[in-house]
This record gives sequence, C-alpha cells and structure tokens, in this order.
Amino acid sequence: MAQMEQSAGAARTARRVEQARQTEARRLARRSFLRVSVFAGLTLSVGGLVAGFLGFFNLRHPTGFGGVVNVAKARVPKPSEEPARISEGKFWLSNLQGSEGDVLGVGGTGGLLALYWKGPHLGCTVPWNASFNGAQVNFPGVIGWFRCPCHGSTYSRAGIRVFGPAPRPLDTMLLTVNADGSINVNTGKITSGGADNPLRAVAYNA
Ligand code: FES
Repeated sequence: MAQMEQSAGAARTARRVEQARQTEARRLARRSFLRVSVFAGLTLSVGGLVAGFLGFFNLRHPTGFGGVVNVAKARVPKPSEEPARISEGKFWLSNLQGSEGDVLGVGGTGGLLALYWKGPHLGCTVPWNASFNGAQVNFPGVIGWFRCPCHGSTYSRAGIRVFGPAPRPLDTMLLTVNADGSINVNTGKITSGGADNPLRAVAYNA
C-alpha cells in the first residue's frame, strides 16, 4: 500500500516538473520571438530611413549637375550655331563645324562638345559672347567667343584659351549620343581642358 502511494506521489512530481518545463519553454520561445520582432522592426525602420535619405537627395541616380543630364534633340545646336546654355548641367553645348574652335592647329573633325562653364582661373561662370570680335585677341574675323567677365579670359568655341590669366582651356564633360538624337552629358565626369579639346568633340549626325 505504502509502495503504491509512493509511486503515485512520484508520478505527480514528474507531471509537475514536466508542466514547469513546458511553461518555461513557452516563456523562452515568446521572449525570443519578441526579440526577433523588435530587431526586424528596427532593421526595417533604419532601412526605410536610409532609402528615404537617398531618395530625398537623389543620390542613387543623381540627375542635374553631378549626374547625367539628358539634352533633347531639339535643344542641340546645329553646326556653327551659337553654343546652347544647359543650365541644369552647368555646361555649354558647342556644335563645332570641322576644325572650328581649333585655334592651336591640332585639327578636329567637328561634333559636339560639352564645356563646363566654370572658369579654370578662379571659378567664375564663363558666358558665351556672341558679338565679341576676335580682333581684340588677335583672331580678326572670328566673331563669338566665351569670355569671362571676371578677368577677361577668352576661349574659342572649342574652349581653347587665347587670352587672359586662365591656366588652361575650359574643362569638358563626358558626352554620348542616344539613338533618338538626344544626348547624355555626365556632369560628374569632367576632364581638364587641354589643347586637344577640339579632338574630344563627338560626331553628331541626328
Ligand atoms: S575667373 Fe575667369 S578669368 Fe579669372
């Protein structure tokens, strides 16, 4: 009899231990689930913030100055027309006819050139002066030059410096022609101006 009571007591104890073990296991599972949820929530929030930041400042695919600027075909000047001012990209789009603008005799077969409008002397914005007479800078008969209002540096249609304190020609930007006749100018890819500016012109027959 005493033996039967003993084994019944042992069974009750074993049941209680098992119940306690299951309760503890459920508690632990709940806790880790909460931890994972909080971590996942935080990760999503931080990811959202970063994506929002990049989107707000347009850093993933920058457009405008610093990124790729698309210029529609209608805005591209014809050969020898006045260079087009592309404000959103801070450059002049020059369409050279043959070796036009090559005042140093390096040659060139013409085409499009994207000239960064920031003067390489002290950084003033260099405008196109359609009526400036080259006679004033030893190039009589050539009308229309880029001429900096700050200290007078003067550049040909190809951005070649012929006068003034600028240490080099106008810098150029990477230009590619699209199938629809528009062009892309990567304003983040700037190359220091050089005597070979006219040779950097990209053929354009659209
Ligand atoms: S900044 Fe243009 S010439 Fe000095």
